[in-house]
Amino acid sequence: MPNNSPEKILILNGSPKCKSSLTLKVTGAFIKGMQSERNCTAEYIHVSEKNIRPCTGCLSCWGRTEGECVIKDDDMPFIRDSILSSDYIIESFPIYFFGMPGTLKVMTDRLLGIMCTFSGEEIDPIKTERHALRSPKEGQRLALITSCGFSESADVFEPIKKQYDLVFGADRYSHFCVPQLKALAQAGSGQRFSKMLALAEQAGAEFITTGKIDPALTAELSSPILSQKTYRVLMEKFWRDEKDEVKE
Ligand SMILES: Cc1cc2nc3c(=O)[nH]c(=O)nc-3n(C[C@H](O)[C@H](O)[C@H](O)COP(=O)(O)O)c2cc1C
Repeated sequence: MPNNSPEKILILNGSPKCKSSLTLKVTGAFIKGMQSERNCTAEYIHVSEKNIRPCTGCLSCWGRTEGECVIKDDDMPFIRDSILSSDYIIESFPIYFFGMPGTLKVMTDRLLGIMCTFSGEEIDPIKTERHALRSPKEGQRLALITSCGFSESADVFEPIKKQYDLVFGADRYSHFCVPQLKALAQAGSGQRFSKMLALAEQAGAEFITTGKIDPALTAELSSPILSQKTYRVLMEKFWRDEKDEVKE
């Protein structure tokens, strides 16, 4: 009997701005694209709203137990179950200091128990085995949707890309990083922002049907839409207006 139950998309929103995250707006368009192609449920977890204690580094999940964490009185057991049971995991977060926001990093560290000690395949370039997932869900796919303030998103995203390449393997996840997002979304570039959301929707449709995002589309989503001059003018006006609002 074919299984007709809808597939599950899990959105892990790592922006401390929770529902007002601009990255999440882009992710919303991506999810719309996914759902236009397939019957999927979407569950949102706003990581900053959750009670997540930091990993203590005891390594019990790799030694004394088979993946079990010693911390049991916070929201991680629920988050971990959601991750393990999802068909698609979408991590949505802004770049902070060329990395991920602290709350998301705290959550990520607590996922050590879902990885094996040493039983994955070799990763280039460090020639050691990857910590593969203990019980991978067949066909599960991961996408990272990130955003940054600067125009040069490839450079800004590079440290995160390196980190995920080492953790998961370079071809095992899809990603794009939208540059200039605040300027696009909040500083008077409505039409250009709408165009970018339409591209994100297209990327979502592609991701769910082919399992990846076409490199040309990834490049388009990751390219600055505004010239450096327009970007500066818009942002300077934005910050001036903010200051004026405080004075009034
Ligand atoms: C603490 C902090 C650190 C940031 N660091 C960077 C950075 O290293 N590079 C960058 O381009 N933008 C940086 N930004 C800008 C955010 O990435 C950008 O505004 C993002 O689009 C906000 O997305 P959000 O609305 O989803 O939170 C930083 C913002 C904050 C608040």
